[in-house]
Amino acid sequence: MTLTPLQDLAQSLVNCDRCKLAKLGRSQVVFGVGNPHASIMFVGEAPGFNEDQKGEPFVGAAGKLLNDLLASAGLSRDQIYIANVIKCRPPNNRDPEQDEVETCKPFLMQQIQLIRPKLVCTLGNWATQTLLERKVGITKVKAQAFYMKDFVIFPLLHPAAALHQGNLLPALKEDFKKLKEFLDRHSKPAEPNSAAPIPAAPVLNIESPQPAQMDLFG
Ligand code: URA
Repeated sequence: MTLTPLQDLAQSLVNCDRCKLAKLGRSQVVFGVGNPHASIMFVGEAPGFNEDQKGEPFVGAAGKLLNDLLASAGLSRDQIYIANVIKCRPPNNRDPEQDEVETCKPFLMQQIQLIRPKLVCTLGNWATQTLLERKVGITKVKAQAFYMKDFVIFPLLHPAAALHQGNLLPALKEDFKKLKEFLDRHSKPAEPNSAAPIPAAPVLNIESPQPAQMDLFG
């Protein structure tokens, strides 16, 4: 069977040993899951224990919360694609290290190039800073659209942050409410006879990208 370029990329990483995480207790590489034709992609930090066991991003407690938040924005997991910046679990869920991010980021960028989402929702500081290429705190940039060359970045608080600090939950829900408002403003009805193999709803119409809002970064 012929593999799609995305499946090919996943296959090429199965035994990845480009960084030290390969030898620090990972069970498997967690490439990403979801609709390969998605117009919206979510990017987290790195797999945790459950993700490392199952081989899929966001299947633990943070994933359950993410599913609820997606539903609140009118989205389901089969419409979107989810990946992490780092594809292997860091030991004891420690923060990713710079060399690990640098090694893994090109594969995230290739995933984005192959899926071609219009909107990339970054979850938390790591994903946001990696894709915006700026050391900027999530609280300063969350729930706003940053127009890049090929897609829009929409940073959101990380669901795990609200699991650790319950008082962040209302802010997280508010972020997803703003995401829904953004989607509602930029969605157009799907073509009635659209032949897309898998529904990649919503059909986003983000047509005239503005330059990235660099003034926010000071
Ligand atoms: N947190 C992440 O950032 N990614 C996962 O896949 C799970 C938890």
